[in-house]
Amino acid sequence: MKIYSVYNIKGGVGKTTTSVNLAYLSASAGARSMIWDLDPQGGTSYYLCVKPKVKGGAKGLIRKKPAFDDLLKMTGYPNLDLLPADISYRNMDQFLEREDKPTHGLHRILRPLRHQYDNIFLDCPPGLTTITENVFRVTDVLLVPLIPTPLSLRAYNRLVQFLVKRRTKKLQVIPFFNMVNTTKPIHRIVTKNVHAKHPIFLRNTIPESTIIEAMGIKRSPIFTYARESDEADSFRGLWKEIQQRENSKKRKKKTD
Ligand SMILES: Nc1ncnc2c1ncn2[C@@H]1O[C@H](COP(=O)(O)OP(=O)(O)O)[C@@H](O)[C@H]1O
Ligand SMILES: [Mg+2]
Repeated sequence: MKIYSVYNIKGGVGKTTTSVNLAYLSASAGARSMIWDLDPQGGTSYYLCVKPKVKGGAKGLIRKKPAFDDLLKMTGYPNLDLLPADISYRNMDQFLEREDKPTHGLHRILRPLRHQYDNIFLDCPPGLTTITENVFRVTDVLLVPLIPTPLSLRAYNRLVQFLVKRRTKKLQVIPFFNMVNTTKPIHRIVTKNVHAKHPIFLRNTIPESTIIEAMGIKRSPIFTYARESDEADSFRGLWKEIQQRENSKKRKKKTD
């Protein structure tokens, strides 16, 4: 099982949009996939038309052995399940901090699902709190959507420094640009120059587009209502490049 977390300290950068579309692509390729909507705002649950409600709430997940058969919801898309958001997730930090090992809670919750899924996607809330530290501990691939501005790059650099300090070595960080608008000079400059300093940024980017924004009205992944669009292709390209990145990391490890 592999855990992909879509994270940025900021809100409104496309974490939820990316989580839903990548989880859909993973599932439609035949991988048993699950997406956990960790944000109490419940964007992923909304897009997937599932009520943002978890019996027992955050406390139940952390304190008890969760009855996943009950809690996991089918999305109607083959191979894609959802662990919905719940309003109580806004107190998740407090519950985690009361545990003996506050940064191990998510790891413990997800452990029984190891054999049930090939890919798990965590749609993370913004911020840098105890829940985020849990996310970093449990994640294999940290996907970081960023709007192409100098300030975003600064925030990204800070995130990397934080991760280095925490020695989260296992974690593979993969940043990419979302909401790219090439009519804006600043977007053109940042996307053009980024690879000189940060070759780690994905070559594929996601454009700013009303077709992507329409997910909020359609309440479904982009592939269900605009599968032939350039925007759908941009997510396909992104997912492909992410997988290529992982494979090349695996090959490198073998030769080391
Ligand atoms: N590529 C895009 N083009 C246009 N609008 C987008 C794009 N990605 C996201 N949005 C819109 O921006 C808002 C925030 O996106 P969302 O995925 O919810 O961000 P986050 O989860 O980081 O808060 C939503 O209204 C969403 O529809
Ligand atoms: Mg979100």
